[in-house]
This record gives sequence, C-alpha cells and structure tokens, in this order.
Amino acid sequence: MANLLTYEVHDDVAVVTIDSPPVNALGFDVRQSIIKGFEKAAADADVQAIILACKGRTFFAGADIREFGAAPKSPLLPEVIALIESSPKLTIAALHGTPLGGGLETALACHYRVATADTRVGLPEVKLGLLPGAGGTQKLPRLVGIPAALEIITSGRQIKSAEALELGLVDKLCSGDDLIKDSIDFAKSLIAQDAPRLLVCERNEKTAEHKGKSDIYDAFREKNARRFRGFKSVENIIKSIQLSADLPYDQGLKRERELFTELQQSRDAAAQQYVFFSERETSKIPDIPKTTAVRTIDSVGIIGAGTMGGGIAMNFLNANIPVTLLEQKQDALEHGISVIKKNYQRSVNSGRMTEQALEARMALITPSLDYTDLSSVDLIIEAVFETMEIKKDVFRKIDAIAKPGCILASNTSYLDLNEIAEATKRPQDVIGLHFFSPANVMNLLEVVRGDKSDKDVINTGMRLAKTIGKTPVLSRVGWGFIANRVMKVRGYQTDNLILQGVNPEIIDKVIYDYGFAMGPIAMKDLVGLDVLGRDSTERTVESVLVSMDRLGQKKNGGYYDYDQNRQRTLSPVAIEVIQQVAAEKGIEAVAADEDEILARLLYPVINEGAKVLDEGIALRSCDIDIACIKGYNWPVYKGGPMFWANTIGLEKVLTKLREFEQRFGEAFTPSPYLVRLVEEGKEF
Ligand code: 3HC
Ligand code: NAI
Repeated sequence: MANLLTYEVHDDVAVVTIDSPPVNALGFDVRQSIIKGFEKAAADADVQAIILACKGRTFFAGADIREFGAAPKSPLLPEVIALIESSPKLTIAALHGTPLGGGLETALACHYRVATADTRVGLPEVKLGLLPGAGGTQKLPRLVGIPAALEIITSGRQIKSAEALELGLVDKLCSGDDLIKDSIDFAKSLIAQDAPRLLVCERNEKTAEHKGKSDIYDAFREKNARRFRGFKSVENIIKSIQLSADLPYDQGLKRERELFTELQQSRDAAAQQYVFFSERETSKIPDIPKTTAVRTIDSVGIIGAGTMGGGIAMNFLNANIPVTLLEQKQDALEHGISVIKKNYQRSVNSGRMTEQALEARMALITPSLDYTDLSSVDLIIEAVFETMEIKKDVFRKIDAIAKPGCILASNTSYLDLNEIAEATKRPQDVIGLHFFSPANVMNLLEVVRGDKSDKDVINTGMRLAKTIGKTPVLSRVGWGFIANRVMKVRGYQTDNLILQGVNPEIIDKVIYDYGFAMGPIAMKDLVGLDVLGRDSTERTVESVLVSMDRLGQKKNGGYYDYDQNRQRTLSPVAIEVIQQVAAEKGIEAVAADEDEILARLLYPVINEGAKVLDEGIALRSCDIDIACIKGYNWPVYKGGPMFWANTIGLEKVLTKLREFEQRFGEAFTPSPYLVRLVEEGKEF
C-alpha cells in the first residue's frame, strides 16, 4: 500500500494528514490510512487532540465512486466513522476544497470542524442516484434541522463556508491562509477550555419538534413533485431524514444503510454514476492531450443577434468576457440586445441577480454594424441564418478582417462545416461551436472538428466550454452532428405514429413517463409549428395547422387546445387534419401499445447512435449519451440512449428493429455496427 499518511505532533496536538490525489476519495487505502493515523494518535499518551486533514486540492471529496461496483472491503466507511466517533481524544476536521458526501460525513464524526473561507461542503449523493450512506441523513438534520436538511440533501448543492458556519455545519472559519496552523491553535484553545466532546449523533434538539409527525415531508414532496419526478433516490432520502427525527441514532443509521444499499443496487444509480464519469470523459480526446496549446480568449465577437446569438452572448457576459455583437440592421441589433436585457431583468426580478450585476453584464456588450469592429477579438462566433451561401459570405468577410490566430466558429446546426471553412484562407482556424437552445440555459456545447481544424483550436474550444459552464462533446462533421442527428429520428417516428392513427396524447404520455419533461407533440406546440415547418414545402399535418393559423401554444393552439391555465386537451380540429393528411398519403391505421410506441420512438435513436459511432462522428458512446442528456434533457437516470440500450440488451433492441423494419421499412434497418456488436456479444 502506498503511504498516504503523514503523522505529526505539535505539542499535545496530532495532525493526521492524508494525501491521495486527485480528490482524496475515501477508497480502501485512504480508509486504512485514517485508521492507522487515529490508532497512532490514540496510543500517543502526549496527544490530547487529533486534527484530521488532507493535502492537495480538497478534504475527502466523498466515497470512491469507482469502488461502488466491487465487493465491499473492510474497513468500510461506517467503520472508520465509528472509530473517529469513539475517540476519547478531542477530534477536529480541518476542511478545505470540497468535502462532499462521505467526506462531509467523516468531518461530522469529529467533535469540531474548522474550514477555509472558500470551502464548499455538501451531500451530493442524490446526483449519483444514492443517499448519504455513512450517517449523513441522520447527522445533518441533527445539526441544521429537518427543513434545511431536506433541501440540502435532496438538492445535493454545495454550501459555501460562510453559510456552513451559520448553519452550524462548521464551528470556525480559518482567519488566514494556514488552515493547519489555525486548526492547531483552535485545538489548543479547546484543550485549554476543557471544551466538551460534541458528538452530532448525540444531539436531537433540532429534530425533536418533528418527531412522529409526517406533515413536513408530505408538504415537501408535494411542493417539489415536478423536480423530483423519476428520481428514486429522493424518496429514500426523505424517508431516511424522517427517521432521524423518529428513531434513536443507531436505529436510524441501520435503516439509512438499508435504504442506501437498495439504491446502490439500482439501475438508476448505475446510470447516474456512469453519467458522472462520462461527463468527465467527453473532454478527453485521444490525439489531443491536455498539454496541447490553448489560445487565449479574452474577447468574443458574435455575428447575428437572433435567438441563438443573444443566448450565446449571455454565456460570455456571465463569464465576464466582453462581447461585440454584430447585426446587419440597427433594429435587429437593438432588438437582440433588448432580449438579452429582458432575460437578465427576469433574473433580477426573481432575486437571482442584482441590478448592479445586470448593469455590469450589459456594459460588456459592444453593439456593432461594422465588421472591422471584430478585427481585434480572439474568437468570432457566427450565428446567422442557416443558409450555406449566407454563412460563406459571412466567413469571407470575417476572414478579411479577423486578426491572425483568431478562432472562427460557426453555430450551424446541420451545414457542412468543412465547406464553410473553405470559404476562408484559414480553415485550420475554423471550428463549430454548436450551442443548444436556449443557449444561455442548455449545458451542451458540441465542438465540431473540421477536417483541417488545428489541434490547439479544438483544445481551446473544449476548454472554453468549461469557462462558460458547458459540457463539451467533440463531433466530427456530419449532418446534424451528434445530438440533433440522433434525436431527429424520434421526430420522424413521432410523425409516422401520428399518421398511423396513434393518439398524440398517448405518444406524449409514453415519453413523459419514460422521464422526459415533455412529450414530442406538446413540445412542437411549445416551440411553434410555424418555426418547425419553416423550411418544408411538403403538405404535412403541421403545414395544414399553420395554414389555419394554429401555430401552437402562442396562437390558437396547435395539436392541442389550451385554456387560460395552459391546460391542454387534444384538439378535434387537429384530429381531423391528421385523418385527412393520412388519407391523402394512403397511410393505414396501426395499433400499438405503450411498449411498442416507446420502442418505435427511441430504438431508432439507439440505432442512429450506432451509425454515428460507426462513421466516427462521435468518439465514444458516452459522447452520444452526454449530448442527449445535456442537449435534449434525456433523463439522467436512464444514462442516455446508448447506456439504456445496454441495460435493455442489444440483442433485444436488434430483434425489435428487425421486426419494425419488416413492418415499416428501412427507417428501422439496423446499423451494421449494432449487428456486429450483437454478433460479437459486445455492448456500446
Ligand atoms: N470517487 C472517485 N473519483 C472521483 C471522485 C469520487 N468521489 N470525485 C472525483 N473523482 C475523480 C474524477 O472522476 C476525475 O477523474 P479523472 O481526472 O480521471 O477524470 C478527478 O477525480 C477530478 O475530478 P473533477 O474533474 O470533477 O475535478 P473538479 O476539481 O472539477 O471537481 C469535485 C472536484 C467537486 C470533487 C468533483 O469531482 C465532484 O463533484 N466529485 C464527486 C463528489 C461526490 O459525489 N461525492 C460523494 C460520493 S458518494 C458518497 O460519498 C457516498 C457516501 O455517502 C457513503
Ligand atoms: P434567428 O433567425 O433567430 O437569428 C439569426 C440572426 O442573424 C437574425 O437576427 C439576422 O438578422 C441575423 N443575420 C442574418 N444574416 C446576417 C448577416 N449576414 N450579418 C449579420 N447578421 C445576420 O436564427 P437562430 O435561431 O438564432 O439561428 C442562428 C443559427 O444558429 C443558425 O445557423 C441555426 O441553425 C443555429 N442554431 C439554432 C438553434 C435554434 O434552436 N434556434 C439551435 C442551435 C443552432
């Protein structure tokens, strides 16, 4: 075993320091090292207090997630915690970085906690489909009370040290920049005062008022029903917190472990843990190591202040990067800027932003109608109409004025980036930066690698995503790149099902029940049928509805009618239009139950994902999963289409696709890659 432990004694204070990069996750070796350190201190007669600390960037950031699949190996975390709690000597946790999950649970086993000013603590297990399984649900409520514990543990949010101090999660903030010195001083003052050995598990003054009562939990469930829908871990968390008020600590702890184990064995938790690692994996590109050069981006130019240009600009303003926003006409420019301001104003009105912050962000915008204003920026992002000729014209113009080394990016959704790049004399500086609508909200950034894009340009794009709080996914050039391409097939199948007489409400219900926030037809009504059918010349259900001025939620209803409260009912007019169009196209009605509807809608997404992999558009299946989760809100507890396919079994998916191919044609023809995987007994 590598030596992770440093043991030092300062007068009567022992400092047990663990060093296990990158984040001091509480794996087997770390757990053993803590025990070794505590045993040493216990045997040291001169020692009256023990400080537990970590080297590197953080105090323990939690259990080691990589160990979750393997057989548990003693000493388990609860054993370590029990040992700390049984210490007859004073114990102090010295916190820095992000003591999360099992890390915070370990800190809560100590009598006192000291933290640096920039420490952030939390119990984020919910994000991994779990609950805090080493006493967190029993201890946190004892310190902060039931209402705060419900909010903190079900959100998994990180709490800054000032708030942690207020809540009583930490006892003292470090005054300078030497945490260990401050902790030793604090320990000595505690020894001098003969301070009590405060054990969180022995307290119950904050939970007593809720003992035997269930109203607070029911009200909490009801208030957050929409947010919690589909997340099994949340229900176990609420149950476990309730036990902290209702049961003695030891019994509560035992039940907490059972509820933790139940979740740990679930498919949802496996999916969420896969997503945790995949989110990190997508930024790794095999032939572009992290050591690749990065270009500095201190200023950005954006061309087009429409729906996307405005949203893209907000990302940079939020990161304090100045933006020159260019339009063709003054009124379009003013409109674009007014929309940005309106969006910020909404945040101010709801208390999420201050008026000063709004002013500061708006002051970072330079409006412009003149390309030469972009001659000194480090990055230019084009977000004009989706027409090749217009885009080429814009790229020719920026090629003429951009400074050497400036990165030229397109936000195109479907066009050939290589062709756009060839309109310039510097295709090596051209990439795609494909944002998802609303661009200031959705977390995905597809970084599109043109055939000639330089490696440092790609690397800069990937890093830039992080700077503006997005998850980057690399895509090669191909129609629709990754997310739009694979999700588009769900749209085609939705239209087919509608024309085959399947009730649109049932289609929406199936997708909603699967875990999406909204079904595809309700979504069409929300986006606007006129927007969706903009480029189509074919007579479709949507084109007829638009010709009747039924544009969706914004005007006269669409597929659905809407009342004043936006409650929807399927429109008889829409049903008639569907029947008419189906008759014109000679499409016969088909019966399909809910399982079949789901398979017809989502198995083609898996199949398209297989094609995207086969063509090398996406590097790995996890890139497709993250693109769908971050770009289209694919339910995170399903792990994305490719992970979900593995859980169903690829053979089963393939058999179903072949059956659909027989019945409905080539839209379901299985990808040869998928066939190969099944033949070889492999998974995505
Ligand atoms: N276990 C194993 N590996 C972990 C880990 C963990 N708990 N936390 C982070 N890592 C790994 C990451 O996978 C990454 O590995 P890589 O370099 O090979 O890709 C590396 O550590 C660095 O992580 P980040 O890139 O995320 O670094 P950041 O500095 O951006 O973020 C962090 C640090 C805030 C600690 C973030 O990694 C994080 O949120 N980690 C998860 C924390 C967590 O969920 N803890 C609870 C675990 S469950 C638990 O404790 C159960 C208990 O109740 C019983
Ligand atoms: P939009 O129509 O809302 O905005 C386009 C803007 O570009 C308009 O304000 C227009 O005046 C301006 N413009 C057009 N030609 C210009 C020129 N030559 N110089 C300067 N400005 C010019 O369109 P939207 O939706 O913002 O789309 C822009 C691009 O983003 C398109 O390529 C689109 O495919 C892509 N995109 C759109 C998404 C969406 O959901 N709307 C999502 C992701 C990408």
